[in-house]
Amino acid sequence: MTALPTIVAKAPRRFYIETWGCQMNELDSQRMAGQLMQQGILPTRAPEEADVILLNSCSVRDKAEQKVYSRLGEYRLFKRQNADLLIGLCGCVAQQEGERALDRVPDLDFVVGPARVGELAQIVSRRRQGERVVATGFPEERTYDIDAVARSGEYKGMVTLIEGCDKNCTFCIVPTTRGPERSRPLANVLAEVRHLLDYGFQEIELLGQTVNHWREPGGDLDFADLLEAVATLPGVCRLRFITSYPRDFTPRMVEKVGTHANICPYLHLPVQSGADNVLRRMGRGYTREQYVDLARQLRAARPDLALSTDIIVGFPGESDDEFEQTLGLVEETRFASLYAFKYSPRPGTAAPRLGAPVDPDVASERLQRLFARQETIQKEINLSLVGKEYDVVVTGWGREPGMQMGRTPCHRIVHFATGAEPADLGSVTRVRVAGALTHSLKAERV
Ligand code: 5AD
Repeated sequence: MTALPTIVAKAPRRFYIETWGCQMNELDSQRMAGQLMQQGILPTRAPEEADVILLNSCSVRDKAEQKVYSRLGEYRLFKRQNADLLIGLCGCVAQQEGERALDRVPDLDFVVGPARVGELAQIVSRRRQGERVVATGFPEERTYDIDAVARSGEYKGMVTLIEGCDKNCTFCIVPTTRGPERSRPLANVLAEVRHLLDYGFQEIELLGQTVNHWREPGGDLDFADLLEAVATLPGVCRLRFITSYPRDFTPRMVEKVGTHANICPYLHLPVQSGADNVLRRMGRGYTREQYVDLARQLRAARPDLALSTDIIVGFPGESDDEFEQTLGLVEETRFASLYAFKYSPRPGTAAPRLGAPVDPDVASERLQRLFARQETIQKEINLSLVGKEYDVVVTGWGREPGMQMGRTPCHRIVHFATGAEPADLGSVTRVRVAGALTHSLKAERV
């Protein structure tokens, strides 16, 4: 009897992706993961066992950029144990640095900018054949395969409406890293939304740096029309969009937010500053009064609306008085949440020429005062929600046993006890708010 040949099973290759920054990057990572999975490479949570490591970077502030370089320094050491390991720099730092990144990090295998994400599979193959590829820039023709997206959220499906940005905010690097603005045709957007609905997603999140500036390429339709078209598709339970640019919000868009119950009463509307002089130097194209008025209109249309915002403190030349005006705006507008950052000079932007740098200690102190003020306001708002009932989408497990987490339609995080029967991830369950923390609510299932 002849012995059966021994079959040595080769372990599947693994990839590891680390993602920084905005929702656009989150979706780009899902697209890269999808392409690798189509090649039979499987995800891992452990970078040390990966054969492909991708760092999907953010360059909106200097700190984010530094972080990705220090991570590259750590991961290249894994090549000592795994000679086959490929390391790729992706995202906005990749676009910004291009070739330079290959010079700076000797073990870096390839560089992929945000507009070239669809080419990842070929780039990996080219590298395996020896080429160190730099794929940056903004080609007219771009690959986007909706079937090659590893949609990792249990409940939220993301759809890009508009790429890049044509605004010229003087602090911002995004127009350089994500290129000129391009809207996607409505038919493509609707096809992708339908695809997500077929897969059972509860929530559709429309993405763009200035999402409400969407227009049908070569046509007349604007974002209000698009909202109407998507919100009325059968099966859209929750519709959200991020990020809106204040100046581009028209009365028709406000009206759509008011009339479609499935458009979530949550809106991220970055104000950046509460002082007109700073807004002017930032090149934002609106005044404090216009912003406040827009917030008023939105709340009139949708009384349960939760508004969140971004603020930059220590913009060049920001005076104490100008900062006080920002505090005043925060006081007046009562945001449900607020993301605030110390101004960080970015290469090629105009802001550094527009005023004297603010002392870093002064900027830190302003940031702390802003956070402290917001915390008080947020806690007050959250306390006022005690006793209210919400349908929450179940998003995960809590840190303590027996606890689960979810999101209200207004996007607040809710912690609730599972009760006898835990709720399925991605399902909707009704809860009553029983307590308030600064950044979340405690609730009971009803
Ligand atoms: N410095 C600090 N914060 C910045 N942001 C954008 N560019 C900078 C910068 N140079 C902030 C803005 C923006 C958010 C995504 O990041 O508040 O809305």
